[in-house]
Amino acid sequence: MVTTVGTETTFPRLVRNLLLLEHDAIAAYEQAIARLDNPAFKQQIAAFRSDHDRHVQELTRIADSLGTEAPLEGDAKKLLTTGKVALASLLGDSATLMAMRSNEEDTITAYERACQHSTVPAEARRLFEQALQDERRHHAWMDQTAKAA
Ligand SMILES: [Fe+2]
Ligand SMILES: [Fe+2]
Repeated sequence: MVTTVGTETTFPRLVRNLLLLEHDAIAAYEQAIARLDNPAFKQQIAAFRSDHDRHVQELTRIADSLGTEAPLEGDAKKLLTTGKVALASLLGDSATLMAMRSNEEDTITAYERACQHSTVPAEARRLFEQALQDERRHHAWMDQTAKAA
């Protein structure tokens, strides 16, 4: 799945779609936590999940300040983000982490675009830059751990 998040023309729409993307990502994290066998992997994924919870809180605060409705859950793409993790988990932890890594590519792409987006105020840009660093850290761990597992 290649995300289109970050290609919106207005700041409120960008924030709304980032929230949908975060909720879809969190659903996949929950799926991975339930299905991973290695307890250390579960624990690390749960720690990353709390970064996503923080991203949702920050995005929701921005949406509130814009008077824009903040989605409380994801959209139909959740079926893709969670479905590929569920399927991959049948093949073991390494495959589960690879599926999670591919979801992370979408969050990285979305925040890269959000950081470059011309409508984003400075304070929000700093939050997006922090979120981008978080997503890159998640991706790097998943990549290294999947290859070693
Ligand atoms: Fe996130
Ligand atoms: Fe992530």
